[in-house]
Amino acid sequence: MKTLLLVGIGAGDPDYITYQAIKALRRSDVIFLMDKGAAKHKLNALRREICARFLDGHTPRFAEGQQPEREREAADYRASVDELNRDKQAVFEQLIDEQMADGETAAFMVWGDPSLYDSSIRIIEAIAARRSDFVYDVIPGITSLQALTARHRIPLNSIGRSVEITTGRLLAEGWPQGVDSAAVMLDAKDTYRHFVGHGLYIYWGAYVGTADEILIAGPLDEVAERIATTRAEARERNGWIMDSYLLRKEGVAEA
Ligand SMILES: C[S@@+](CC[C@H](N)C(=O)[O-])C[C@H]1O[C@@H](n2cnc3c(N)ncnc32)[C@H](O)[C@@H]1O
Repeated sequence: MKTLLLVGIGAGDPDYITYQAIKALRRSDVIFLMDKGAAKHKLNALRREICARFLDGHTPRFAEGQQPEREREAADYRASVDELNRDKQAVFEQLIDEQMADGETAAFMVWGDPSLYDSSIRIIEAIAARRSDFVYDVIPGITSLQALTARHRIPLNSIGRSVEITTGRLLAEGWPQGVDSAAVMLDAKDTYRHFVGHGLYIYWGAYVGTADEILIAGPLDEVAERIATTRAEARERNGWIMDSYLLRKEGVAEA
């Protein structure tokens, strides 16, 4: 039997790692790395730093999967994601077959938490559903939204109210019904700009928890252009960007 651990490692600062995650990594024989694109080098360096700092001399092997890329401008977003996940499933399965011996434990160091905008759980579950030679477990991590709210020193929700966690793509379709706070991830197109003039406050953060962290907060009407310029410059400087933000109706009490 093989054991797979999907380990949330937090979304930036190596100190976000939990003690449960450290214990999971310490009992792993091999660590699978699956990042892609321009950010890959930095994100994998952080994973290796976590292992060097926290594993108390334990030195698991590293095995890198060739992560497939999603077709960016695909007309059918859902179909392109399904296709990507099928390709990823083949890569995961190859790692399990070729890089693990029977009786071994492998860890996937998942950015942030595996439950939030991450397909690892779905992919591993799909593989597990048709094989009986491995078991898997999930270890939670600090999400980028928790990192964002902590760095801005704000609660996620206003008093007794709901929060919508959404993407730039969905926000572009309109403000979510019935909420006064929207946490927005995966926004490559500065979608917050659509809401200038709507009485919103924004808490924005890029590379949160890392040495490159940038934070900007204020009334959206006043800071939207500064965020757009800062974001474009940071993206140009680093070759990639990961940012997220919370939009809140102004005048709504937090807690
Ligand atoms: C594919 S999702 C993965 C989210 C991750 N599983 C989590 O728990 O945060 C990637 C998105 O998370 C957000 N993100 C991840 N890390 C971040 C960070 N350190 N600072 C700001 N946003 C981040 C960005 O919106 C990015 O587009």
